[in-house]
Amino acid sequence: MPTRHATSDRLLYAQSGGVTAVINATAAGVIEAARARGVPVYAARNGILGALREELIDTRKETRAAVAALRHTPGGAFGSCRYKLKSLEANRAEYERLIEVFRAHDIRWFLYNGGNDSADTALKISQLGKAMKYDIRCIGVPKTVDNDLAVTDCCPGFGSVAKYTAVSTLEASLDVASMASTSTKVFILEVMGRHAGWIAAAAGLAGDGADAPPHLILFPENVFDEAAFLAKVKATVERVGWCTVVASEGIRNAAGQFLADAGTRDAFGHVQLGGVAPTLAELVKGKLGYKVHWALPDYLQRSARHLASRVDAEQAYAVGKAAVDCALAGMNAVMPAIVRTSDAPYRWKIEPAPLAKIANHEKKLPKGFIRKDGFGITAAARRYLAPLIAGESAPPTKNGLPVYVQLKNVAVAKKLAPWPPG
Ligand code: F6P
Repeated sequence: MPTRHATSDRLLYAQSGGVTAVINATAAGVIEAARARGVPVYAARNGILGALREELIDTRKETRAAVAALRHTPGGAFGSCRYKLKSLEANRAEYERLIEVFRAHDIRWFLYNGGNDSADTALKISQLGKAMKYDIRCIGVPKTVDNDLAVTDCCPGFGSVAKYTAVSTLEASLDVASMASTSTKVFILEVMGRHAGWIAAAAGLAGDGADAPPHLILFPENVFDEAAFLAKVKATVERVGWCTVVASEGIRNAAGQFLADAGTRDAFGHVQLGGVAPTLAELVKGKLGYKVHWALPDYLQRSARHLASRVDAEQAYAVGKAAVDCALAGMNAVMPAIVRTSDAPYRWKIEPAPLAKIANHEKKLPKGFIRKDGFGITAAARRYLAPLIAGESAPPTKNGLPVYVQLKNVAVAKKLAPWPPG
């Protein structure tokens, strides 16, 4: 049974971390479900920073059509951020500020839409509510293209980047195969996934069989072995005529160093990655003498809403709706997790899971998903991945371009002194 709430009570929704092709579908799920229950929704501008700065957006000013259009609009409609709250002991003022903002605007439910760092933030805020005697229900809402959240079977955002990666691997392979006898012999695609090889694994869906692309997948779960890599590329080119390689941005050498450390760090201390493909291309060119092309789709892969997976878009919407159900049922410090009940036909449901089991955990590819030679995926991986890229969910188009919505994002009047103070 839903808990009783005062008519002045509001729900605050915020987006966090790297955005996805379907994170706004989750926003639509949140806003539509809350509207149906008569609960006003504020959104924080740029994630938790908007909550700290009291930069709140009144989603009641958005039309039904605009909210519905979020279901097919990529990016983060309210802005996102990478900002890690310190521990309560280390920065009490920050937490007190959050409570002050929540209190000033009658925020009784906080829904934080992000990955494992964001689950940690959501958990801390729920603890802070208790510590500071302010009644706030905090729900984590899953999202990450990296698919590395614990407990949930998959993460909204992943299915679409997986589809983009598998399709791009297939298409680029047809291209390189066409001219391999006189031109490019090796194509290298670099994909995201900081520490976990889920996106790289999805490339494996492009083909099945000994000589089908991708011929090599480089997973961050394995140590990069230069000699084995070059030997496999050479053998593939000699046998097949060409070779497609998919490399995770997060691969490391035996010393544990990223091959593609861009030299900058974010607020979480994460190294900015990107550049494995050119590094590998140089290696192949230098050591084997083949002509190489490489691609770094970077943000293209996680924003490619035109190629979104229908399953992913549906799950993204469903977790938003379920998060509202959890919040209004009085739950705290939980996340609606996707539970797979069958591979074929693919069936899933949503169940709340404790944030404490999710925060700061990283779910790597299971050993059983990586082929024995280390360069491909197993049948078990295919069974897991295949349903997640299923179905199309194309956005409406006009003049050949997708029609995406731009929200009005009307600011709520501030009531407090600016933050940070001074
Ligand atoms: O959100 C996950 C992710 O897409 C990673 O795969 C990637 O390494 C990172 O975000 C990039 O982060 P940013 O956009 O903050 O540089």
